[in-house]
Amino acid sequence: MGLLLMCVVIVIAASERLVSADDQQQLGLSRASSTFSQNLYQKVAVKETNVVYSPYSIHSALTMTYLGAKGTTATEMTQVLGFKSVSSPHQTYHDLIADWNSQHSVEVHTCNAIFINPYEMVLPTFIDQTRDYYLATADSLDLQEPEKAINVLVANKTNNVIPQMLKPGTLDASTVLVLVNVLFFNGTWARQFRRASTTQADFHQIGGTTSKVDMMHDFESHKRVKRDNTNDLDVVALSFLGDRFSLYVAVPRKGDGITSLETLLSSPQNAEQLFEGLDFDYFHLSIPKFKIETSLELDSVLSAMGMATAFTAAADFSGINGSGGLYIDKVIHKAVIDVQETGTVAAAATVVSISKGLFMSPGAPVVADRPFVFFLRDDVTGQILFQGKFSG
Ligand SMILES: *[C@@H]1O[C@H](CO)[C@@H](O)[C@H](O)[C@H]1NC(C)=O
Ligand SMILES: *[C@@H]1O[C@H](CO)[C@@H](O)[C@H](O)[C@H]1NC(C)=O
Ligand SMILES: *[C@@H]1O[C@H](CO)[C@@H](O)[C@H](O)[C@H]1NC(C)=O
Repeated sequence: MGLLLMCVVIVIAASERLVSADDQQQLGLSRASSTFSQNLYQKVAVKETNVVYSPYSIHSALTMTYLGAKGTTATEMTQVLGFKSVSSPHQTYHDLIADWNSQHSVEVHTCNAIFINPYEMVLPTFIDQTRDYYLATADSLDLQEPEKAINVLVANKTNNVIPQMLKPGTLDASTVLVLVNVLFFNGTWARQFRRASTTQADFHQIGGTTSKVDMMHDFESHKRVKRDNTNDLDVVALSFLGDRFSLYVAVPRKGDGITSLETLLSSPQNAEQLFEGLDFDYFHLSIPKFKIETSLELDSVLSAMGMATAFTAAADFSGINGSGGLYIDKVIHKAVIDVQETGTVAAAATVVSISKGLFMSPGAPVVADRPFVFFLRDDVTGQILFQGKFSG
């Protein structure tokens, strides 16, 4: 049953109560990622009925890739990723990863990995930086089944919520390097919904039709809420145990209000305002149980957002192998969110594959369409193990 979720925009956000001395850097980075996310939303979500993605996962995977970018490629990425007000994005991500991975009241794990084509050269400095800043593990890519190890990693780190990250055939021998980010979240509500209260209820879609959803109810909810009369919507924050992470649900009051809400979000600073000015109130809350799974190929979207050079022969990723010829081939993202009475499970992964240019003009072709002779030979000793002729 396809659940239609037209009238709700959801965001899981860590609240702004940071304890470290690097608060400003963390806030600068989360604003950069949020701005990136709102720009992305306009490109990938407005036309869809249901969609989920992880701004953190996409933004941090690209920031890790940016370690190797130079010249125009780097300048464009600085712009799109919003690093103007973040002096050290890599160190800031480092601190965030350590912070999230040490949380206990909810499960929130994130990890990074790189996979290197064994026939290609990647600078030790680049590998060291991905390890030091992003705690990335480095493995070599198995060219027989290049997707396999990545799929195993993502499935493992998401508790099998994302069992198949990449379809076979996504990567090939021209892949030089693959960068992977994984995020897994499993939180229990600070106040759970009672299963017995869940009812079948109408959900009103744009255009006036209705569908049935499993509606969860909390009849005596004491939660943070904002009655936003200016924008004609209500924002509710559902906190997870530990009160650090919350699911924010922004519900327009009118049936077709999603359109104005999405227009509001097209100015990225408005998204920040949705999370401000909420106060505790006592009210009846009903929200549907829902599960959304989204797969995105982001190459053309990211190009359109302003980092086109990274995807072309003109790309400069000389920070990765010390010379030119590398470009981003694909940026693939998958995300799942499953909102239930007890809590929420959400997982995401982003894969950035870097390829070597196939932009050189090829030499004269060799086509074995006439009888030929063959040798199976040991290249170390020169011994010919087998020799023969093929004539069709
Ligand atoms: C992930 O890998 C670890 C270590 O090999 C293993 O203990 C764990 O059970 C795996 N988890 C899943 C969901 O496969
Ligand atoms: C999420 O946490 C709940 C409660 O601890 C657990 O029962 C459930 O299996 C977890 N889900 C996943 C996908 O790990
Ligand atoms: C970097 O990769 C490109 C494309 O494979 C290749 O042409 C170049 O020789 C590599 N540089 C080094 C130093 O290996």
